[in-house]
Amino acid sequence: MGVLENKARARTFYKYLSKVYDTINPFIWDERMRDEAIEMLDVAPEDRVLDIGCGTGFATEGLLQHVDTVYGLDQSPHQLSKAYQKFGKRGNVRFHVGDAERLPFKDDTFDVVWSSGSIEYWPNPVDALEECRRITKPGGTVLIVGPDYPNSSLFQKVADAIMLFYDEAEADRMFEAAGFERFEHHIQQSRPGSPRAITTIADVPE
Ligand SMILES: C[S@@+](CC[C@H](N)C(=O)[O-])C[C@H]1O[C@@H](n2cnc3c(N)ncnc32)[C@H](O)[C@@H]1O
Repeated sequence: MGVLENKARARTFYKYLSKVYDTINPFIWDERMRDEAIEMLDVAPEDRVLDIGCGTGFATEGLLQHVDTVYGLDQSPHQLSKAYQKFGKRGNVRFHVGDAERLPFKDDTFDVVWSSGSIEYWPNPVDALEECRRITKPGGTVLIVGPDYPNSSLFQKVADAIMLFYDEAEADRMFEAAGFERFEHHIQQSRPGSPRAITTIADVPE
């Protein structure tokens, strides 16, 4: 398990990274990739949408171009304070401080559950994916963006030491173990040579 697949360490990491997150983030996960992933969803303005690991609100901002209200959850108060500066604490984003593995919502609450760039920090990703399924309405959609497993053995060693990087076979295993039956993966990339994202869009069984 990578050093940042630990909730306390990830929280400390984001205490510092939150200061520069919005400057660094576009080199790996940019607006074009985010909007391409949002286009994979079929969202209506009145849909109830949750952004898990919303951080400073980069994806939340994109989702708000399509829906009236977004629920944003993150375990880092430092990341969330950046998001409050952008959206206000009580505007059309309903913020929650919380853990992806123990979501503070009732069964069948959301039409869409989204999470970009957060799964790699979750120590028990299958538990969190089960939580995503539980709180999404039957027939709803879960979309998860994570880091694709690198090809070179050197980068694989570095990646494994830091956090969860996974390929399509591993994504299949995780989503099946979490009770999803129908899902597909898309590989996304900002530019040739930059790190790839693996984006999985899953239907919640009826
Ligand atoms: C790379 S940032 C992604 C932010 C945003 N989703 C985006 O698309 O730019 C990862 C976020 O996941 C959050 N995170 C990590 N582990 C978490 C957990 N167990 N529960 C909730 N949030 C978590 C971090 O605090 C951080 O804000």
